[in-house]
Amino acid sequence: MAACAVLFALGSGCRQAPEQQNGGAPVPALAPEAGKQLFAHHCAPCHGTDGRGGVGPDLSATRYRYGKYRDDIVKTISSGRPGGMPAFGSQLSAAEIAALADHLLTPKR
Ligand code: HEC
Repeated sequence: MAACAVLFALGSGCRQAPEQQNGGAPVPALAPEAGKQLFAHHCAPCHGTDGRGGVGPDLSATRYRYGKYRDDIVKTISSGRPGGMPAFGSQLSAAEIAALADHLLTPKR
């Protein structure tokens, strides 16, 4: 609320706040930060805090064994993979899984 009021006062208005644009993703369910936090909580124990691998493979790789497209990643997370990747479909909502896929597809700076 306060941030909106400030932006509004600056004449840009809330809707045009740059941090609210998400590049036109079809399911803009959760903020990008949510994916990061979900990753730290559910995935980092196996894939490392920065996703660079541990028990599970390095997720900063440019190519994934099971495909590095949004649909492949959503399937990997929700259904699991035979080599030790657990299924999260019953623990995480579709929006949370989408946020995780977006997080993995976002280039790290
Ligand atoms: C118990 C350890 C463990 C946890 C927790 C875990 N993973 Fe994995 N993950 C693995 C392993 C092991 C593989 C390799 C599976 C294979 O090759 O069949 C994998 C594979 C993957 C892949 C596919 C990589 C590829 O090359 O195709 C993705 C994407 C992935 N994990 C994302 C996640 C995300 C996101 C989370 C958190 C929601 C998560 N993982 C949590 C162990 C884990």
